[in-house]
Amino acid sequence: MLAQEIIRIKRDGQTLARSHIDAFVRGLVDGSWSEGQAAALAMAMYLKGMSRTETVDLTQAMTHSGRVMDWRAAHLHGPLLDKHSTGGVGDKVSLMLAPIVAACGGVVPMISGRGLGHTGGTLDKLASIPGYNTAPDVATLHRALQSAGCAIIGQTAELAPADRRLYGIRDVTATVESVPLITASILSKKLAAGLQGLVMDVKVGNGAFADSLAMATTLAESLVQVANSAGLPTRAWLTDMNQVLGSACGNALEVQEAVNFLTDQWREPRLLEVTRTLSAELLVMGGLAADDAQALQQVDAALDSGRALEQFARMVTALGGPADFCQRPGHYLPQAPVQLPVLAPHDGFVAAVATRDIGLAVVELGGGRRQASDTIDTRVGFSQFAQLGQAVQAGELLAVVHAADANAAERACRTLPGFLQITPQAPVGSPVLIRRLLA
Ligand code: URA
Repeated sequence: MLAQEIIRIKRDGQTLARSHIDAFVRGLVDGSWSEGQAAALAMAMYLKGMSRTETVDLTQAMTHSGRVMDWRAAHLHGPLLDKHSTGGVGDKVSLMLAPIVAACGGVVPMISGRGLGHTGGTLDKLASIPGYNTAPDVATLHRALQSAGCAIIGQTAELAPADRRLYGIRDVTATVESVPLITASILSKKLAAGLQGLVMDVKVGNGAFADSLAMATTLAESLVQVANSAGLPTRAWLTDMNQVLGSACGNALEVQEAVNFLTDQWREPRLLEVTRTLSAELLVMGGLAADDAQALQQVDAALDSGRALEQFARMVTALGGPADFCQRPGHYLPQAPVQLPVLAPHDGFVAAVATRDIGLAVVELGGGRRQASDTIDTRVGFSQFAQLGQAVQAGELLAVVHAADANAAERACRTLPGFLQITPQAPVGSPVLIRRLLA
């Protein structure tokens, strides 16, 4: 069928058949659909919506638009598990979760992305480790999974190529924020990675793509239902993103926080809660623990025994990083030349955090991209970030700015206090774990 006929069906609010969706996805990959035609259908899908069946069909067609990973040759011993977050500020959970799950017997081939808009990306964080290769050849990837049980790498050219083209088109045609399109985009890559279990961390709050509970719930339900219908057992958690997760945001700073977390130097309680819960969810899904309580015990044991740190260290080494990275992270991670404290202007409690603006402030410092082709400065960002509800006195530390030069540091010091609301009354606390969605 002609592309324009398929576009017309969706434009008129009717349902696309699997054959229409297959033709669209084929056209994305072989170039027979023009940019304009793909954009027109994406906009029609955005405006008219998609049924669950259409979304499953699109997900499956995009999954099979490239290579579906086959792990048989890798001789891996354990269920293939992964976690995916819809994106936040300071979200470094993957860096700890992958080695924790590996230490408990799972295998985590985690295909991660770069930062998007104001949100950080795991690949950008790992780029701050000298020598770490996020695009290994197949043999290296298999060796990393065999020795470490986890490998956090980037998307390969063969993985869901239809999504890559469609995502590029959506990015410049205001069609990113569509639940069915986001669902198909995320899940096609996860299905193509050949996983046996997935947990989705759907962030909700002023630093997330979904700022309302209703929107996050709609997205989480779509992800869980479509993934399970497409053959990938999936659960989801809605988690809070109304403040920086953990104490640091910025690439190298977050890797340092992750290593501190794994070495038990300090674990920010909210970050710990999200990491433990999502890791435990995967252990139950993978049949590695009988129930939640046992899974949490296993997670704690993996952390406290140092086994999770060991798996992280093995992953870094197997993918080309320094063998003693975890012993001397400060020696290897790049450090910003200028570090300035941001101080509380008056006494009170931290009552609100403009989380998205903080993510954008990291981009402004050079820690994220304004354009896809930009290179990032992995050294910059904020550390020792004050938490919601924290009591502060005038002149007390709210955060430390890490910047490439004095001008950038001073600019960030001037703007940051405007992103933190300090009130005389303590705010009502809110949980970091909001809701769990089972299949
Ligand atoms: N992440 C993706 O991979 N795809 C989307 O559409 C949105 C976020």
